[in-house]
Amino acid sequence: MTLNREFDVKNLDLATGGRFRIEWAENEMPVLRAIRDRFAKEKPLAGMRVSACLHVTTETANLMHTLQVGGADVVLCASNPLSTQDDVAASLVSDFEIPVYAIKGEDNRTYYDHITAALDHKPHITMDDGADLVSVIHKTRRELLTDIVGGTEETTTGVIRLRAMAKDGALEFPVVAVNDSNTKHMFDNRYGTGQSTLDGIIRATNLLLAGRTIVVAGYGWCSKGIADRARGMGANVIVTEINPLRGLEAVMDGFRVMPMIEAAAVGDIFITATGDINVLDTIHFDRMKPGALVCNSGHFNVEINLKGLADMADGAPKLVRPYVEEYRIGGRALYVLGEGRLINLAAAEGHPASVMDMSFANQALGAEYLVKNYASMKPSVYTIPEEIDAEIARLKLLSMGVRIDMLTEDQTHYLSQWEEGT
Ligand code: ADE
Repeated sequence: MTLNREFDVKNLDLATGGRFRIEWAENEMPVLRAIRDRFAKEKPLAGMRVSACLHVTTETANLMHTLQVGGADVVLCASNPLSTQDDVAASLVSDFEIPVYAIKGEDNRTYYDHITAALDHKPHITMDDGADLVSVIHKTRRELLTDIVGGTEETTTGVIRLRAMAKDGALEFPVVAVNDSNTKHMFDNRYGTGQSTLDGIIRATNLLLAGRTIVVAGYGWCSKGIADRARGMGANVIVTEINPLRGLEAVMDGFRVMPMIEAAAVGDIFITATGDINVLDTIHFDRMKPGALVCNSGHFNVEINLKGLADMADGAPKLVRPYVEEYRIGGRALYVLGEGRLINLAAAEGHPASVMDMSFANQALGAEYLVKNYASMKPSVYTIPEEIDAEIARLKLLSMGVRIDMLTEDQTHYLSQWEEGT
């Protein structure tokens, strides 16, 4: 297949529906709207070429539009082969004149062709979700390094990858770790992943969660959210961990905690969100009950050993519903959702706009921060300054009509002294 160099989307006829859904999301994104209004006046990104590799969703469309209003020349490709919303991709091209390279269900080759096309834009700023742009640039497109002033990174997995690059001395430009902002990980990772992961499982299977045993692998911000929401739906939740502190936290939050090898025998539904490989492996599939269902909400499709499962299975998997594949092992059936890719974006629509509002406010302000400060920034991983983070929280509360207290002068003074005790 030859790639359309100007854009590559499934079908431009889907644009109108996509635009309506983008507008629907916009209603839920007041902080990003406020930034867009300011960007329209100040044009802080004027002259900047931005290549973004993000999940192509209604929320991302609103971010792309905000950057464009801020003066940037933007292109977008998918950050996962299964997460693209084709109507949104069509609308971005038709209604916003933003080149998009993304088709839901694209194969690995096309996924990387789309990254190449987005990089042919010769970015000054990269905007990543998972660090694929940064990784490809450093491995095979080093000629682009001369123009790049910096990048932003959305997700935990990407930040871990970037820190590994920085530690190796391999990172060649500064990257703002959006995930490190409190207004990102405390809300997007916890409440966004919590809700959208269950949404993906429910849309794919229509199973009742109440009364089922759900095993959540990991107890970081994302998995915490999943465990909490699953409990809220009446599931009996088991958490597995490798970190003693997090394991302890899960116990004191009231969850059962045990090694995966033990959980494997009792779980009905398994959800991975650890960021590591083979969290569910053949030794676990061996012990699982007939009908057990496995899925992943971590960034990459590496957490479930699908090759191992395919090798154990009697034949090719059977697609029994969209996003549900049945593997037969002896007399047992095991089910894999969404090919082991992010189930919340494969089978549902990702996080709701209201949390993406804060994540993408961080992205937009992160890009602005880079433009203002890149000259003094080293090739390293940066966190957005606390004042910007706090301002996003303030604006979000304001948009929700929630007011909070202010310190009195006496209280401020009390906190700044050390003499006064009991
Ligand atoms: N990551 C998780 N949910 C998302 C969404 N709705 N849009 C973009 N990226 C996401």
